[in-house]
Amino acid sequence: MAVLVAGGAGYIGSHMVDRLISEGYDVVVADNLSTGHRAAVHPQARFYEGDTRDAHFLDDLFAKEDIDAVIHMDAFSLVPESMKKPLKYFDNNVIGMIVLLEAMKRAGVKYVVFSSTAATYGNPERIPIHEADRKEPINPYGESKLMMEHIMKWVEQADGIHSVALRYFNAAGAKADGSIGEDHHPETHLIPIVLKVAAGQQDQLKIFGDDYDTPDGTNVRDYIHILDLADAHILAMEYLKQGHASDVFNLGSSTGFSNKEILDAARKVTGQEIPAEIAPRRGGDPDTLVADSSKAREVLGWKPKYDNVEDIIKTAWTWKQKHPNGYEDQ
Ligand code: UFG
Repeated sequence: MAVLVAGGAGYIGSHMVDRLISEGYDVVVADNLSTGHRAAVHPQARFYEGDTRDAHFLDDLFAKEDIDAVIHMDAFSLVPESMKKPLKYFDNNVIGMIVLLEAMKRAGVKYVVFSSTAATYGNPERIPIHEADRKEPINPYGESKLMMEHIMKWVEQADGIHSVALRYFNAAGAKADGSIGEDHHPETHLIPIVLKVAAGQQDQLKIFGDDYDTPDGTNVRDYIHILDLADAHILAMEYLKQGHASDVFNLGSSTGFSNKEILDAARKVTGQEIPAEIAPRRGGDPDTLVADSSKAREVLGWKPKYDNVEDIIKTAWTWKQKHPNGYEDQ
């Protein structure tokens, strides 16, 4: 039996595939390469180029491959873009989920582990955030993922497809050897942009807002290493296969860093000055997002290996130094 990673050519997906293969799983990847990279997919994974909104593509894949679980990482995920193009997000993310679940139902596939997000909480009612806390997204991206979670809940009771939704906080870093990493076009995420400035590819960092309700006025986020995220998916998939009911887990380090603190940490790691200026807010950014991840630790037995943001940034810096222009260099 094989695991299907939908979105396996993306930043998180490619690390997921790498981790699954190193753990001995047989892996199939589906990706339309709209934001992912063919070169990011592990050579031992069987690759199918296509779209999760395409029922024929999925039926064909499920007919050719013996899939027993799906890891669904195939969604658009940029907060600022979603503010400008909400329909693009609802179309790709929500419709993609519906078409995928319908195809899983036809093929008799019973398990799905879904990449959800801390953006489902909006401006949280308390910090750290617990899974049951209020969910009022303040951007279309978070709203689309919350809708996807709701769809999975109703499908479980009607169709017996069991799911785990993993609400990621801020995924960061790269495989330690720098062979795969983050490469978005355009890049909007804080750490890769800071490292672009460190590498001399961009003049300066713009910090979007310093008038938030946080200690230094800049947004606070909870950064988690990408391979720790990947490990949690494997645990969640095995949890479902053991017969447990559907559930939702936060995945974060439970420590918050402000944008200014990330900049300082990156200056330390890279030894570069990294010029920065304060710019206006970009819209859709909650003040603070920090996870309570104790449920994933207790129920899934998840033990993140990276507990230091500088170590996380170091792995992203190794990738940046080895691949200054990302996958274009390959
Ligand atoms: N930021 C800047 N300057 C930049 C880029 C980002 O100041 O050039 C700031 C943002 O305004 C925000 C922080 O850095 O305050 C982090 O922004 P990112 O774009 O790196 O990440 P987000 O917190 O917006 O979103 C990420 C993922 C989402 C996920 C969310 C959950 O992209 O998918 O974390 O916490 F939902």
